[in-house]
Amino acid sequence: MALQSFGSVDTNFKLDKIAEYLEKYTTVLKDKPSKEKPFRTIFVDAFAGTGHIERRRDAESLFDGDADSIIEGSATRALRLNNPFSQYVFVEMNAQKARALEKLKSDFPILAQRISIQVEDANDAVQRLCNETNWKTTRAVIFLDPFGNQVSWQTLEAIAQTQSIDLWYLFPSGLGVWRQISKDGRVVKEANESLDRMFGRTDWRDSLITRSYEVDLLGEHEVFTKEGDPNAVTEYMISLMKGIFKGGVLDQWLVLGSHRVHKYSLIFACSNPNPRANQLAFRLAKAILRSDKVGRRK
Ligand SMILES: C[S@@+](CC[C@H](N)C(=O)[O-])C[C@H]1O[C@@H](n2cnc3c(N)ncnc32)[C@H](O)[C@@H]1O
Repeated sequence: MALQSFGSVDTNFKLDKIAEYLEKYTTVLKDKPSKEKPFRTIFVDAFAGTGHIERRRDAESLFDGDADSIIEGSATRALRLNNPFSQYVFVEMNAQKARALEKLKSDFPILAQRISIQVEDANDAVQRLCNETNWKTTRAVIFLDPFGNQVSWQTLEAIAQTQSIDLWYLFPSGLGVWRQISKDGRVVKEANESLDRMFGRTDWRDSLITRSYEVDLLGEHEVFTKEGDPNAVTEYMISLMKGIFKGGVLDQWLVLGSHRVHKYSLIFACSNPNPRANQLAFRLAKAILRSDKVGRRK
C-alpha cells in the first residue's frame, strides 16, 4: 500500500500553483527590507504528507496524459525553489508519514539544517509558531492542505494576528461542508462538531440553511432548505475571514476536486495590514489564480 495515495489531476494543478506562488514570493522578498538585514522567511506546510504522492489509478489520471505515477508533494516542491526560505516547518500528524519526510533532509542536504519536522496536530503547531515567533523580523507563508475539516477557526485567528503571514487554505467547501448538509437542511451528525470548530461559531447554519414555514393539513411547520452551492459556502467563509485578516482575503479561489465535482476551494488571505505588502501579495496571488478553474464572489 502506498503511504500517500490520493493524487488526481487537480492535486498536481494545486501544487503547481502553490509552488509558483512560493517562487514569486521568495524572489520578491529576497534582500528585503535590506540586503544587510533581510527578513527571516518561513514556509509552514502544516499538513505536509510525505513529500511525495502516488496518483490514484482512476480514469482521470489515466486520461491526464502524464505517465508519472508519483508526483512531488508540497514539501518537496518548496525545497526546490531558486531562492529558498530561511526555515521550513513541516507538520504531519501521522508518524509514519513524518518519518518519510525526514528523507527530504538527505535529498536536500544543503537545506537540511533549515528543515524542522513536527509530528503533531497542525492546529497546535501553527498556533504555537504564530505566538512564539518575532514577527517584526520574520515573514512566512502557510499552506493548510487538509483532507477535511481539520483546521480550526482559532488557527486562522492566530495566523491573522501575526500580521506577517500569507495563507493558502484548501477549504473543504464541497466535501467538508456542502456534502455534510442534506437538501432538507439536516447536518450529518458526525460533522456538526467539526463544522462549528472550522467556522468558529454555531450560527453558520443560519447562513447556509434557510428556515421557512409551510402550512398543511396538520397546521404550520418549519421547513429547512440547504442554500447555494460550494461556491456560496466559499463566499461565506471568505466573508468571515475578512473580519480577521487585516491584509484582506482574495475574492477569487481555485475550484478543485475530481470528476468535475467541486470538493475544495483554494483561498488566499494576507494578514499584513501594510498596503504595500498586501497589494503585492494580492498581485502575486491573482497572477497564480489565472485559470479557468477560478470561482469569484458574485
Ligand atoms: C492532503 S494531505 C497533504 C498533502 C501534502 N500537502 C502534499 O502535497 O503531499 C493531508 C495530510 O495531513 C495529515 N493530517 C491529517 N490531519 C492532520 C492534523 N490534524 N494535523 C497534521 N496533519 C494532519 C494527513 O496524514 C495527510 O498526510
